[in-house]
Amino acid sequence: MTLTKRRRTLALLFCAVTFTTFLFNYTFRDPSSYLYKYTFRLSASSKGPCACRHCVTERDEDDVWFTERFNLSVHPLMTRDNSALSDDTFKWWQWLQAESHPANFSEVVDELFQVIPDEVLYMDAGPERCRTCAVVGNSGNLKGSQYGGLIDSSHFIIRMNQAPTAGFEEDVGARTTHHVLYPESATDLDNATNLVLVPFKTLDLQWIVSALTTGTVKYTYVPVMNRIKANKDKVLIYNPTFFKYVYESWLEGHGRYPSTGFLSLMLAVHICDEVNVFGFGADQDGNWHHYWEDNLLAGAFRHTGVHDGDFEYNVTQLLADKQKIRMFKGR
Ligand code: C5P
Repeated sequence: MTLTKRRRTLALLFCAVTFTTFLFNYTFRDPSSYLYKYTFRLSASSKGPCACRHCVTERDEDDVWFTERFNLSVHPLMTRDNSALSDDTFKWWQWLQAESHPANFSEVVDELFQVIPDEVLYMDAGPERCRTCAVVGNSGNLKGSQYGGLIDSSHFIIRMNQAPTAGFEEDVGARTTHHVLYPESATDLDNATNLVLVPFKTLDLQWIVSALTTGTVKYTYVPVMNRIKANKDKVLIYNPTFFKYVYESWLEGHGRYPSTGFLSLMLAVHICDEVNVFGFGADQDGNWHHYWEDNLLAGAFRHTGVHDGDFEYNVTQLLADKQKIRMFKGR
């Protein structure tokens, strides 16, 4: 090799090393650079946070709105271990329905877990899991929707309050894996369904114990079912700490407290990988009735005065816009 050729090779080598060092330092190490993000996403997508096509937990560093709200460390369901409430949470929770002479909370919890199972459930998210969930609200927009088959094809089907299926299967489906209710909205369930109790007061925990055993609690602030048909080995309790987290982080304190529909949606967002939402919002003519009601002016949910329906709907819509959930708007 002549001297000039050797010099040229050395110069080329020097340029290549300088360029590579520059690229590494200023491109791949800078998290805001396009190349960094592209490379990061490519490697992340080879093994995503779940085995579904879209995962609720897919993190997008650019999505500050979602990242600031979503917290997987607050368990949605109560166990003996997570049942202790902070003073703040207890005060807030007791304030919801202004219970005047509550029984001793930890004694009631103790009694509760002698009747129902004490298990940590559903906190098994991972790259091998694809749990699809249908959250079925009670809106009249389900009428004539023909969503039944789609709803029934999910792993979890979450319904709430009075929600009947008999006679409405074509539009709302026939299967229910989880039924979210509270004493004043309770209805009998079949043996295969998980009853998810949303407690608003200590008496609600006493009610479920009673409704599954002696039947002594007959009245809260209104008369309630003193016995309920439900499988006591499938009863789950919505954790008051999670309840408060939903209210503060997701609803930013709007309304007095979240609606059953929003609480159910948040349960799904935290225990499912893919969430499809049905039966939320008004129908195409602006009516807020239930799908089993003929009275278009009923709109029970809309008229309670304790929920901020518009704010809840906007958050739900935003989750859909960000492809965290899918909304099926019916008719
Ligand atoms: O009326 P109810 O509370 O039983 O309905 C359950 C949930 O379904 C509500 O909390 C609300 O989120 C949703 N819903 C709705 N639009 C309706 C009726 C109910 O979004 N017209």
